[in-house]
Amino acid sequence: MSTEQDEIIRAVSQDANLGSYEEARRTFSWTDAEKHFTWHTTGKLNMAYEAIDRHAEAGLRHKAALLYSDATRSETVTYGEMRDRSNRFGNVLRKLGVQKGDRVFIFMPRSPELYYALLGTIKIGAIVGPLFEAFMEQAVRDRLEDSEAVAIVTTPALLPRVPVADLPHLKHVILVGDGIEAGPGQADFHAEMGQASDQLDIEWVDREDGLILHYTSGSTGKPKGVFHAHNAMIQHYYTGKIVLDLKADDIYWCTADPGWVTGTSYGVFAPWLNGATNVIRGGRFKPQDWYATLESNKVTVWYSAPTSFRMLMSAGDDIVEQFDLSSLRHVLSVGEPLNPEVIRWGMHVYKQRIHDTWWMTETGGQLICNYPSMDIRPGSMGKPIPGTDAAIVDDEGNVLPPKRMGNLAIKTPWPSMMRKIWNNPSKYEEYFRLQGWYVSGDSAYMDEDGYFWFQGRVDDVINTSGERVGPFEVESKLVEHPAVAEAGVIGKPDPLRGEIIKAFVSLRDGIEPSDELKADIAKFVKEGLAAHAAPREIEFKDKLPKTRSGKIMRRVLKAWELGLPTGDLSTIED
Ligand code: WT7
Repeated sequence: MSTEQDEIIRAVSQDANLGSYEEARRTFSWTDAEKHFTWHTTGKLNMAYEAIDRHAEAGLRHKAALLYSDATRSETVTYGEMRDRSNRFGNVLRKLGVQKGDRVFIFMPRSPELYYALLGTIKIGAIVGPLFEAFMEQAVRDRLEDSEAVAIVTTPALLPRVPVADLPHLKHVILVGDGIEAGPGQADFHAEMGQASDQLDIEWVDREDGLILHYTSGSTGKPKGVFHAHNAMIQHYYTGKIVLDLKADDIYWCTADPGWVTGTSYGVFAPWLNGATNVIRGGRFKPQDWYATLESNKVTVWYSAPTSFRMLMSAGDDIVEQFDLSSLRHVLSVGEPLNPEVIRWGMHVYKQRIHDTWWMTETGGQLICNYPSMDIRPGSMGKPIPGTDAAIVDDEGNVLPPKRMGNLAIKTPWPSMMRKIWNNPSKYEEYFRLQGWYVSGDSAYMDEDGYFWFQGRVDDVINTSGERVGPFEVESKLVEHPAVAEAGVIGKPDPLRGEIIKAFVSLRDGIEPSDELKADIAKFVKEGLAAHAAPREIEFKDKLPKTRSGKIMRRVLKAWELGLPTGDLSTIED
């Protein structure tokens, strides 16, 4: 239990939306939280309507919904404009024949158009599948194939990575760009938007109907399609209120891309359900740009990730001093363990406590958090949100007492819980195998005051810069390289990125190891799968440790790497 410390950073905010945490735990109920929405009586339920149209109708038509900027573009979109433009996109899809329940993917860099497309898709009851722009052909193919997507919104630059000819269900490619000459099966986004009406009959859906599919990695097999329903809005709204602490005049910035769940749950839904102004910054990470984004937009609430904070920290304190960050009042983090050192640094340079939050793609929304009104213990993820229970359970599902390490588990259900794994009911069931608890795959312990402390993953899933990478996907790509016979992939601890991807590779007979070959293999994964999934380190081995049934033993590779004992090798091949 080495991370537990007695260090406490006292609660600061007297006027936080969540007053007393203990009081809220006693009195809060999800059934009450639902009453915020009027769909009980009107029967009109749709996430995009609640996020945008409802505010536009309630007098916020001229309020900024989106403050977008990148290196070449800077744009304000009001709630009224967001309503009209997402309506137009809904009409574009309907004209193409896209229907409720169909899967529509969005594969493009951040831009205002991405958000019109995402909301418009949801408005007609189709299920949106956002894809991170760094994905290469194999990653795109796997996701479109598994979900049988009928349409994709992309850019001419990314189109070569969409293997249209191999995807029989994919009927429509909608291209966002200038001077598009749409070929067969293609449509020009801007031309179609220009012709479409800005009035739309929104598809009113059931709360359990499909909203979004986010693909994520496990330790085995291809990425899984995590399916979320419109019902998630209850949790997105509520956590936006009590965890992000959003109020009417907040300018909020979530730095995540919508290709990842943080970029939708907390980069789209939570801020807009709460009527806030949402800042989106396109382009790559650069400390100066990030601070300029905070300063020029007068950001008040900022949600980012440990790797970004660590990179900002290593960029130096003198950069911070060049900017006026006095608008900031609440800072949060998610995705990886947040180092106590980073929290201390944040207190020093931003004069802000960084609030760690824990959740996963599968949980759809925040579950264990630090709140403005609660003391922070640096290194702890915080306490379960009111309305949910978390526990540490053993491998049989028995609840363990404080200070014992075990499986971090959540009592089911909660409103934003995934509703299925696409095409894979048995994978879904696995999460609930321990007496009905949702088993996260993380190990943790709880201290005597109810704070949860992250200890690691119990499986082989790698978390590099907050991005979740399945070793199997990388291994599969590695063995496609003509020089590679076998490959095993692990996460290697790294001070900046949390973990980096390290591959152990055995070469085919007659192939000579060299640094050029290493570089070529890394490039092969980068260009075939995604940059963030490419190994930063490759080590050649004559043989890899395998079980008698031929499975590569990643835990032995990890032990080699860390210089630890290899443990029980009774199942190893010769
Ligand atoms: C895994 C989920 C949805 C958030 C973005 C990542 C790790 C997440 C924390 C935290 C330590 C964390 C866990 C989890 N993780 N938050 N505050 N402290 N680890 O979502 O890609 O589904 O990954 O990220 O290991 O299981 P994801």
